[in-house]
Amino acid sequence: MNETLTIALSKGRIFKETVPLLAAAGIHPVDDPATSRKLILETNRADVRLVVVRAADVPTYVEHGAADLGVAGKDVLMEHPGDNLYEPLDLGIARCRMMVAARPGQSTPRRRRRIATKYVQSTRRHFAAKGEQVEIIKLYGSMELAPLVGLADAIVDLVDTGNTLRANGLEPTEHIADISSRLVVNKASLKIKTTAVRALVERLAQAVAASKEAASCND
Ligand code: ATP
Ligand code: PRP
Repeated sequence: MNETLTIALSKGRIFKETVPLLAAAGIHPVDDPATSRKLILETNRADVRLVVVRAADVPTYVEHGAADLGVAGKDVLMEHPGDNLYEPLDLGIARCRMMVAARPGQSTPRRRRRIATKYVQSTRRHFAAKGEQVEIIKLYGSMELAPLVGLADAIVDLVDTGNTLRANGLEPTEHIADISSRLVVNKASLKIKTTAVRALVERLAQAVAASKEAASCND
């Protein structure tokens, strides 16, 4: 039986960094979401298609079986409720760190610290584990602005080069988690389309191993 696979990906860095891994697995998208408005992208393989969704929506599409597999940042997965996704592979792409950041030399307020973030669950867990009670202010982006205009005492955001923090006069103060993108799989797809899913996971795992090997040779 020909088992068709749908893979959910977000535009931007995840798409760009996943394409070489898919290529190593013999999958080449026909269109590029950077230039195409299509949300369903055919590939060179009649049995594999890609769907283009918002980064934070990937787990939802996969959990509900609208996609069999997906690529999502660990930051996104840490915010996603429940335990309904199989996560077989760390793809090692879109690497960064989830950090607390604040203005240097800021004194601790007498009230609970206000933390601005789009990562509400991770922030809640991080401060609860430290026994610090904080007020979390949910934002959808541009977190670095919040401490500069008095909305928050600190932020929780992703840091890669540190350029965005530096440009806004902030510095990292606490490390929460190392982040990279993971392959996620719908549990029913794994049972029903076992051969196709396993074959793809295996090819991607080989591609990840080869890219690690190449990176270590370049070091
Ligand atoms: P959307 O554009 O849909 O709002 P987004 O801004 O989170 O979502 P991207 O910026 O493409 O989408 O980020 C996708 C994933 O890449 C994030 O979930 C995270 O895992 C990772 N990521 C985010 N920022 C960086 C960065 N500066 N360096 C490396 N990886 C990052
Ligand atoms: C992410 C993140 C930080 C920035 C960190 O934003 O939210 O703002 O990258 O990277 P750096 O440490 O290398 O500066 P992104 O570039 O994805 O823009 P976004 O706010 O549109 O998500």
